[in-house]
Amino acid sequence: LFAGPVSFLKSAPDLRYLPDPVAPEVAFAGRSNVGKSSLLNRLTNRVGLARTSNTPGRTQELNFFDVGADEEGGVPALRLVDMPGYGFAKAPKDIVRKWRHVVNDYLRGRVVLRRALVLIDSRHGIKDVDREIMEMLDKAAVTYHLVLTKADKIKASELAAVTERTAAEARTHVAAHPRLLVTSSEKDMGMAELRAAILDAIRS
Ligand code: GTP
Ligand code: MG
Repeated sequence: LFAGPVSFLKSAPDLRYLPDPVAPEVAFAGRSNVGKSSLLNRLTNRVGLARTSNTPGRTQELNFFDVGADEEGGVPALRLVDMPGYGFAKAPKDIVRKWRHVVNDYLRGRVVLRRALVLIDSRHGIKDVDREIMEMLDKAAVTYHLVLTKADKIKASELAAVTERTAAEARTHVAAHPRLLVTSSEKDMGMAELRAAILDAIRS
């Protein structure tokens, strides 16, 4: 599936602009700068498909990408959704509130959402803003994978420790999938497991 066609569908600044709910969706959530857009690009092997930046707050809308559509306008096998980051303190307060609202409402209410990916920076582990999202998903009964990102940035011993801590905390959340994914977009690590998890989600 991931070797086939991938294309940008549309950006939705708020929920009025969502595409018709005709294909299964998997959404990338997580703090600003955690690596959501980079992971989407690496996963689909499309450099620059989703816009990335060193500056937190790059992605400002819900961006939909069609994976495996045979033809222009055809129904894709999968839609990936790149979302704005949460917990970005430097953005104006009303903007942060708006993003939070859009992300939460989408995650809670989207009928075709098959799974969320909650990205966690390996260097920092789970933060309170992540816990808030996880609890919201628990309540909404939306299954999610925790995905450690930027694994290339820390030593193997530190990575082992944060992996253990994160997996242990995941077990205390009802909607968290037991399989923790460890990735590096930079070093192309963990992509086979992530692709398998996504295929699993859209086929079950
Ligand atoms: P927002 O859209 O602002 O919420 O950020 P984002 O979560 O989409 O992060 P983005 O993909 O834009 O990446 C943020 C920064 O982290 C960029 O400078 C990336 O190059 C860098 N980055 C992302 N993934 C990795 C990784 O696996 N390893 C390393 N070393 N850097 C990474
Ligand atoms: Mg982004």
